[in-house]
Amino acid sequence: MYQTSDPATDDALFIANGHSAEVAGASRVTGHGSGNEESGAVGSGRGTVGFCCPTMKTLTAWTPSVLSPLLECCWRPGSRPSATIRWITMSGASERPYVLLSCAMSVDGYINDTSSDRLLLSNDDDFDRVDGQRALADAVLVGATTFRNDNPRLLVRSTDRRADRQQRGLPVSPVKVTITGSGNLDPQASFFTAGGTDVAKLVYCASPAVRAAQDRLSMAPSTSVIDASSPLDLVTVLTDLAARGIRRLMVEGGQHIHTQFLAAGLADELQLVIAPFFVGDAGAPRFVGAAAFLWDSGHRMTLAEPRQIGDVALLRYLLTPRALGEQPVAQADSEPISARD
Ligand SMILES: NC(=O)c1ccc[n+]([C@@H]2O[C@H](COP(=O)([O-])OP(=O)(O)OC[C@H]3O[C@@H](n4cnc5c(N)ncnc54)[C@H](OP(=O)(O)O)[C@@H]3O)[C@@H](O)[C@H]2O)c1
Repeated sequence: MYQTSDPATDDALFIANGHSAEVAGASRVTGHGSGNEESGAVGSGRGTVGFCCPTMKTLTAWTPSVLSPLLECCWRPGSRPSATIRWITMSGASERPYVLLSCAMSVDGYINDTSSDRLLLSNDDDFDRVDGQRALADAVLVGATTFRNDNPRLLVRSTDRRADRQQRGLPVSPVKVTITGSGNLDPQASFFTAGGTDVAKLVYCASPAVRAAQDRLSMAPSTSVIDASSPLDLVTVLTDLAARGIRRLMVEGGQHIHTQFLAAGLADELQLVIAPFFVGDAGAPRFVGAAAFLWDSGHRMTLAEPRQIGDVALLRYLLTPRALGEQPVAQADSEPISARD
């Protein structure tokens, strides 16, 4: 269940993943019109606006048209969501992590080329900024193709930042996370070996491949293979991460991963770096693939910060009320998602 509330009025908004839901402090509510998406809105209890839907998939499809007006019911027009607004996923059992998507792309939107060499899109200062973001995260996630193609270490590189994490009682680097349908991951890859036993690794695997992946990765240090359902479900992944104490998740690609997080409305913030050149290769991966995104010309993301870093540009977008509530927005006339037309 997704839930958010306005602490000033105690109004609550919940969106349930099912036909009915229990909401703390409110009576039981039951959704109507499964199969008729637009007639499913229900209200229950004083100051409560609810909406039930049959599946998480349809919830995702409704979000632009339904979630936004419901949010406007809860927040007075023009008001900025408070920092205490919370998003709760899946039965309200645990709050999902704050999800930050991080990506560097060429001016024409490519995140790599088709050569076997690694394409450097960023510059040293920006790589250092990304390292700083890693150091702030509890976990860092990449897709299995990025794992196989790039062989990333996913460690915090700066010794100062590693020491600072240790002082705060954290492991020197965040937990490493990957997602795979096939389970085809090399236990000798840097993902598993770099950081040794000091850094935990979590492999979320589609159910049919779990047993084989567990066998293949049995010797990989500090590694857990987790059944993430079939088909693999990102909400299951985020719920499990939250249950493991992950509060801030940094997602570092690739294309399929970014596309799914954005299309499912599961990203709070996007840090997009634009490199000052073109790739121009139709066979290369782009930042995202085709999908029904929540943001279109009528539903614009909030640009919180444009920043020049040497020859690249960082664009920081805030995507959810949670992000808008937690972070300062530099652009005075940008509107919160709740106030969109
Ligand atoms: N410029 C940048 O900032 C940046 C950052 C990262 C990556 N990249 C580039 O991005 C490219 C890779 O992107 P990509 O889109 O091909 O791959 P990707 O997003 O890294 O990984 C896709 C793979 O992840 C697994 N996966 C993802 N979602 C899944 C789901 N819902 N269910 C089951 N499995 C799922 C599958 O693994 P299995 O195949 O094991 O089933 C799938 O093939 C590389 O060229 C890399 O260099 C660029």
